[in-house]
Amino acid sequence: MKYSALQIQEHITRGSQLLSLSTNSNHEFAAPEVVELRNIIELHEYQYYVLNHPLISDTEYDQLFALLKSIEAKQPTWVTPNSPTQRVGSSLNKSFNTVQHLVPMLSLENCFSSNDLIEWEKKAKNIVDAGEVQYCIEPKFDGASISLIYENDLLVRATTRGDGVEGEDITNNIKQIRSIPLSAPFSQYGIQQIEIRGEVVMPFKAFRAYNEKLAAQGLAPLANPRNAASGSLRMKDPNEVAKRNLDAFLYHVSYYNLLPGISQASWQLANDEAHTNGKPILTTHSDSLQFLWNIGFKTPNEIKVLVYGIAEVYAQTIAFAEKRDDFPYEIDGLVIKVNDFALQDQLGMTTHHPRWATAFKFKARQATTKLRAVEYQVGRTGAVTPVAKLDPVQVGGVTVSSISIHNEEYIKEKDLQIGDTVLIERAGDVIPQIVRSVIEARDGQEQPIIFTRNCPECESELFKEDGEAVWRCINIECKAQVVEKIIHFVSKDAMDIKSLGEANVRRFYEMGLLQDIPGIYRLNFDQIGQIEGFGQKSKDNLAAAIAASKQQPLHRLIYGLGIRFVGETTAKVLANEVQHLLEYQHKTIESLQLLDDVGHKVAASIFHFFSNEQNIAMLQQLESLGLQLVNTKKNTLETGGLQGQTFLFTGTLNKLKRSEAEAMAEKEGGKILGSVSSKLNYLVVGDDAGSKLEKAKKINTIKIINEDEFLALLAAN
Ligand code: IVH
Repeated sequence: MKYSALQIQEHITRGSQLLSLSTNSNHEFAAPEVVELRNIIELHEYQYYVLNHPLISDTEYDQLFALLKSIEAKQPTWVTPNSPTQRVGSSLNKSFNTVQHLVPMLSLENCFSSNDLIEWEKKAKNIVDAGEVQYCIEPKFDGASISLIYENDLLVRATTRGDGVEGEDITNNIKQIRSIPLSAPFSQYGIQQIEIRGEVVMPFKAFRAYNEKLAAQGLAPLANPRNAASGSLRMKDPNEVAKRNLDAFLYHVSYYNLLPGISQASWQLANDEAHTNGKPILTTHSDSLQFLWNIGFKTPNEIKVLVYGIAEVYAQTIAFAEKRDDFPYEIDGLVIKVNDFALQDQLGMTTHHPRWATAFKFKARQATTKLRAVEYQVGRTGAVTPVAKLDPVQVGGVTVSSISIHNEEYIKEKDLQIGDTVLIERAGDVIPQIVRSVIEARDGQEQPIIFTRNCPECESELFKEDGEAVWRCINIECKAQVVEKIIHFVSKDAMDIKSLGEANVRRFYEMGLLQDIPGIYRLNFDQIGQIEGFGQKSKDNLAAAIAASKQQPLHRLIYGLGIRFVGETTAKVLANEVQHLLEYQHKTIESLQLLDDVGHKVAASIFHFFSNEQNIAMLQQLESLGLQLVNTKKNTLETGGLQGQTFLFTGTLNKLKRSEAEAMAEKEGGKILGSVSSKLNYLVVGDDAGSKLEKAKKINTIKIINEDEFLALLAAN
C-alpha cells in the first residue's frame, strides 16, 4: 500500500484546509503549500484510478485540481514536470518518433491445454534441472503493450511495442492515463533508471460508452476493446485520449540500473534491510509486482497467484477461466512466469520469446460462420440499419444468428458479401461484431450487398445527409417509426399530453385506434370507453388533455415533430422566426443556416422535412384539427435581463465553476455558444485562456471581459 492510514487522514484534512484558505482572498499560497496540494491530489488520483476507491467526491477533487491550476498559473516557475496538471492539455502529437527499446519487447509462446503446459515445463527442465518450480500466474490483459522508462524518479518516455525492437514514442498520450504515475520514488531504492512493461486496456464500461458515442454520430463501432486501446494510443490529440478512459497494468521490470556509486550487492543488501523489512524487492517476479504496487503502480499484484508445479498451474487456468467475465476489462488468457529471477536468467530467451514464461490462451471469443442474407430495420429517427443474418454460431457462451452491420460504409470498409465466411467476436457482454470477412474462403459464389434505397417498411425513398453514413426514411407516416414518433410528440417537453403515455400509445396503435400524429386529435372516445380498465374518468381526463394540448405554443409542436437535430432550443429559434410554420416550405438551406445555432447539417435536415409532401399534409391536417401553427407570441428563450446576449467562457475561472457561470448567464436569458464567431457578444476570460481569446480579439464586436466583470454584468441586469 502506497499510503498509511495516518497519511491518508492527514492528506484529507489538509486538502479541506487548503480549499478553505483559497476562499480567503487575502491568502497568498506559498511554495510548500503547493507541494502539499500536489501530494494531496496525487493521493486522490491513486485512490481513484489505481485502487478504485475514491475518498472524496468528484467535486472536491475538481476543486483541489482547479486550485492547483490557478496557483500554478500565477506562479509558473512552481510548476513541476510531475504535477498532476501536466497530464492535461499536452500539445498535439505531430508525429510519433520511432525509438529503440532498451531491451527488445518479446512475444510469448502460447499454450492451449494441460498437455501444452506439461510440454512447456519439460522443455524448461531440460535446460535447467530445478526441481519443483514456483510459478507466478497472472491475467493476460488483452490490450496494447507499452514500455515506460523512469529516470531519476520521473516518467521520461513511453513507447508502443512496434516490431519489438523499435516502437513509437507515445509519452504525451500515456500521460493521459491517470493510473500511470508521472513520478515514483525509485531513487529511494537506489534505482536511477528503470524500464517497466505493461498493457493499456480499455475497460468494458469505457468501451461501451465509446461505441455509443460513435453510434450517435452515425459511425461504426469498434469490434473490440483491444483495437480501441491501441487506436487510442496513436491519436494526435492527447485531450481526446484522456476522454477514452483507458487504464493500464504494469507486469514486468525489463531493465534497471542503479544510482552512481551503488554496487549490485550493496544495493540488494540495503534494500533487504532498510526499505522492505527484510523482503527483497527484485529477486522474484512476484516481489517486483509487490514493489511496483507499493510505490503506486497498478500491477496484477492483487490478482496474481503463486503456485508450485505445472498441475497447480493447470488447476488455476480452470479457476481463472470461470472468473473471466468478472473482470471489468478483457483478459484473453493467463501468463505463467517462472517466479525466481535467477532461474529466469538461467532459462534465458529465444529471439522470439522468453523460455521462462508462457501464455495460456482461453477459448476464443471469436468464431466463424456464414453470412446468408441482409435485412433492414427502421429505428425511431428513421435510421435504416442493415442486419446480417448468419448461420447460428456459439461465441463467448451465446448463440449469435444476426448481427448489426451498421451502415453502407461499414459494409464497404469490411468488404462484406452475401455467402462470405465471417469472423465474429463477442468480448465480455459487449454486442457481437463482425471482425472481418475471411476473403481466403471465398469460392466465387458470393454476392455483393446492394444497400437498399427504399424503406423496408413504407418503401419511400431513403435520404442520406452529406457527410453522414446513415440512410434514413424521412416519411413521417412510415409505420415502423410512427409509434415512436407519436410517443415523442406527446412527451413532456413536446405537447405534454400526460394521460396519453407510452403504454396507451402502443395499446391504441395495436388496436387500430391510432395510426398517426393527427389521429391523436381524432381519437374515438366511444371506442376507448369500451377498453377494459378505461373508466369514464380516465376517458374524460384523456379527452381534456388532448384538447388542452391544441393550445401549446408553436415551439413545442415543432420540437414534437422530431425533426432530426432539432432540439428544444432550435425549435424555439424556428418558432420565433416565422408567422406561420408552413413558411418553412419556402426556405432554402442557405437561408436556414443564417439562423442562430443552425449549421449546415441542421439546416439540411429542416429543409428536407419541409420538402416532404406527406409531412406538409400532416401539418395541414393538424391545423384543421385546431392546433397552433401560427406564432401567436414571441417565444422568448429565457426572460432575464441578458435576453438575446450570447456568452462563451474560456480558461479557468477562479470564483465560479464553468458550469455555474453558464447556468447563471442562461438564467438571465443569456445563451451559451460553443465557439467564437461573429454571433458572440461576450467572451468571459479566465486564467490560461488560449486560442479562443486570440480568435475573439480579431472580431471587434466581441466584448472580452473577466470573471469579475461578468459578475458585475449579472448584478446590473
Ligand atoms: S509478460 C518478456 N504479462 O501478451 C515477456 N505479457 O502475447 C513480457 N500480455 O507482448 C510479457 N498480459 O503484450 C506479460 N500479464 C502479462 C501480460 C502480457 C498481456 C501481452 C504482452 C505480450 C503479449 C504476448
